[in-house]
Amino acid sequence: MAPCKLHLVFLALLFFSGGALAAAGTTANGTATAAATPATASRVRSLASSASQGVVFSLDRYGARGDGRHDDTPALSRAWKAACASPRPAVVLVPGGKRYLLKLVKLSGPCKSSVTVTVKGTLVASPNTADWSDRDRRHWIVFRAVDKLTVNGGGAVDGNGETWWKRSCKINKAMPCKEAPTALSFHYCTSLRVQDLKIVNSQQIHMSVEDCASVQLTGLSITASGTSPNTDGIHITRSKDVQVTNCKIKTGDDCMSIENGTHNLHVSQVVCGPGHGISIGSLGDDNSRAEVSGITIDSVQLYGTTNGARIKTYQGGSGYAKDITFQNMIMDNVKNPIIIDQDYCDKAKPCKAQGSAVEVSNVVFKNIRGTTVTKDAIKLNCSKNVPCRGKYLPERKMEKIWDGSSTAVHVQKLGHVHQSC
Ligand SMILES: *[C@@H]1O[C@H](CO)[C@@H](O)[C@H](O)[C@H]1NC(C)=O
Ligand SMILES: *[C@@H]1O[C@H](CO)[C@@H](O)[C@H](O)[C@H]1NC(C)=O
Ligand SMILES: *[C@@H]1O[C@H](CO)[C@@H](O)[C@H](O)[C@H]1NC(C)=O
Repeated sequence: MAPCKLHLVFLALLFFSGGALAAAGTTANGTATAAATPATASRVRSLASSASQGVVFSLDRYGARGDGRHDDTPALSRAWKAACASPRPAVVLVPGGKRYLLKLVKLSGPCKSSVTVTVKGTLVASPNTADWSDRDRRHWIVFRAVDKLTVNGGGAVDGNGETWWKRSCKINKAMPCKEAPTALSFHYCTSLRVQDLKIVNSQQIHMSVEDCASVQLTGLSITASGTSPNTDGIHITRSKDVQVTNCKIKTGDDCMSIENGTHNLHVSQVVCGPGHGISIGSLGDDNSRAEVSGITIDSVQLYGTTNGARIKTYQGGSGYAKDITFQNMIMDNVKNPIIIDQDYCDKAKPCKAQGSAVEVSNVVFKNIRGTTVTKDAIKLNCSKNVPCRGKYLPERKMEKIWDGSSTAVHVQKLGHVHQSC
């Protein structure tokens, strides 16, 4: 007989604020639709129309072969340099139907005018290990210090990650643990738009936004094997005023990882899985300070991910993660649908108990529905010293009500239990 698989259908409405958990008054209802709202649609249209203007600098005119074998890095660098020096808005064109082989490449500003990189064909990472130096193993394509940069075009960025994954210490224990490149990095960019692009099989993280402000990421499709190691979809850190909409992310690690220094991030219409879900943190590593605020995750669907909505902090940190809303989420077959873990540890040695913690406050989970393969729909392990005390009274079918006397709460049987054997 087939083993029993417990399917838990949960419906959660949970609100806790300022370190105290409180009952929320309204009934959870509403559907998280995948359809774009009119506001989103018009924003996408206006982005698309603005991107088609400018003086064109095609890679082919700068000596690129586009045959997937010859190194086109110098051609891209030259086209970028010319476009960046253009006093009029410029377009760096990666022509369609061809594969342009690239090694590590850094495309830096400031530029004279706005620059659009239109990728119609494919940018592919060199599969030759000799092309990757140990001096910088963390990057492949890097945009740095550019104001008004747009990357678009409907083409692909292919990290050729399979050879890197095989050499990862997470896959092959005999290998040393070393970094692998992030496919697309944006550092110190302002008014950045990345739209309508496929990013596939990155060596490690697919896209990283660091030290940026005023960012829109839309219409991205990010795909790698569910077993590929550390292949986060979108990583965001030290950045503010960021919007992520209409993205599909299927990878082997976090669909989105939201790290220290992220403020005012709005994520909507994102479909995720396989992967590890949407994660805020880890924060407070090595007794560090963390500052994260104003995060809204809205209308997101997760399929078969290990986590759904997650906040993770190490013991011993300081600072805050506050004003965070997860709402209108649909989760199917998610292992840990809602999880706050202030005892996170991903170290070779166990982390020791410490008094201080990153304070997690004003977190709202609203209208989150779906199924889980484990018995706990909600796991909260809050710090003893920076506690989330109080009453916790979510939706009707709760069987356990947390009385605040324990720091670890596993809420069980929230919603209907469907047992199929
Ligand atoms: C929930 O929302 C749906 C769609 O908006 C509506 O048809 C339904 O009546 C609502 N149910 C409750 C219990 O409010
Ligand atoms: C996190 O950001 C804060 C504020 O910018 C900074 O003080 C702190 O050093 C950062 N922590 C880490 C681990 O980088
Ligand atoms: C919760 O955190 C405490 C430390 O604060 C730790 O000792 C305990 O093992 C954790 N419980 C779970 C279930 O993770």
